[in-house]
Amino acid sequence: MKLKSLFTGLAAAAIAAMVAVSPAMSAEEAGGTPHYPLEHPKHVHWSFGGPFGHWDVGQLQRGFKIYREVCSACHALSRVAFRNLEDLGYSEEQIKTIAADYTVTDGPNGDGEMYDRPGVPADRFPSPFPNKEAAASANNGAAPPDFSLLAKARAPERGFPWFIFDVFTLYAENGPDYIYSLLTGYQEAPAGTEVPEGANYNPYFVSGPALAMAAPLSDGAVTYDDGTPETLDQYARDVAAFMMWAAEPSLVERKSLGFKVMAMLLLLAILAYLTKKAVWAGLKEEQGTAPAMALSSAGSAVSAPVRKAAPKKAAAASRSGPERLSAPRGVADDLKMISGVGPKLEKTLNGLGFWHFAQIANWKKADIAIVDGELNFKGRIERDDWVKQAKVLAKGGRGQ
Ligand code: HEC
Repeated sequence: MKLKSLFTGLAAAAIAAMVAVSPAMSAEEAGGTPHYPLEHPKHVHWSFGGPFGHWDVGQLQRGFKIYREVCSACHALSRVAFRNLEDLGYSEEQIKTIAADYTVTDGPNGDGEMYDRPGVPADRFPSPFPNKEAAASANNGAAPPDFSLLAKARAPERGFPWFIFDVFTLYAENGPDYIYSLLTGYQEAPAGTEVPEGANYNPYFVSGPALAMAAPLSDGAVTYDDGTPETLDQYARDVAAFMMWAAEPSLVERKSLGFKVMAMLLLLAILAYLTKKAVWAGLKEEQGTAPAMALSSAGSAVSAPVRKAAPKKAAAASRSGPERLSAPRGVADDLKMISGVGPKLEKTLNGLGFWHFAQIANWKKADIAIVDGELNFKGRIERDDWVKQAKVLAKGGRGQ
């Protein structure tokens, strides 16, 4: 009863905490500092999402077309080389043609001059502006960011509890989700929101209510030759997918490797658990019969499982008898420390199931008689008083 009410209490507290944390926007309504982005990115289904994702090559080609025809006027793609376009399914010849369309600055030549030449597959995409300052001054003071890493750099946090699930679902698509939402999110600023001169209201923008880039795409802006709808929504998906590829071409491989590693670790964990169970199964039995440690030989049935584990010969010797072990508990004691026991005798004792001083220290008269008989010793155990010696040694004392 008590437990149940505690549980309900905890659940209620958790729900209350989530409700308190989640709507970041309500801070704004309450007159606090607004929290950007004003809107969380929409969740898009991507072909490359999840552990079994794959690139949709047709989509990447369409995204590249949008980049070439629209975005490349302002955005650089400086970490991607033309030959990387192989991933998009282009042949070597096609890549050569694409590269030759661009003018690349090379040099210096023999006269120390830089010169322009057509691009080759090994070149990277040239930037549309000679430097950042030129890029900024052409764009209302805000330089268009390089596309190479943008999809990875713009990944708004998803907050609790999503970031926990994201680890397991291998969610890595907040970048393209963001880009899609931004490109489709341009709208009239609501009354009361101040938009700076030359900026454009967009509630999905990460660092303010408005950004310097005007909506770059609209329905019909780019012609598709594969019959895909020429809508803003489709363009936004395609170019965001292309930008994800540009930022992390190995995303798909990384995730599939990650999934394999997780599966392997899980398998190893299961194996380790089963091994542990198998290894400890015998010892557990002994622990269960803990009194056997202090057991007299008086034939108590409790010692049965212990004897079962002892060597056959010893088991056959007597139905009852001293405690025997098929293997030492942890590290075996050095039985040679008992005066009268040499290396050979130690081996024999081990063979009979005796590994520890504590075992010998527990021998009663009848036990001694049994072992004496097995060793054919005629009273030597008592004469050298192994039991007393073992008692001292078992307590950590030194032998003689
Ligand atoms: C006329 C120039 C221009 C064109 C064309 C253009 N952009 Fe931009 N873009 C900018 C500028 C300037 C910024 C920086 C905005 C800012 O920081 O206020 C920007 C920023 C961005 C950002 C980053 C927003 C952020 O969170 O900082 C993304 C994503 C983006 N552009 C995508 C695109 C895509 C996709 C295209 C092509 C469909 C495109 N842009 C075409 C000028 C342009």
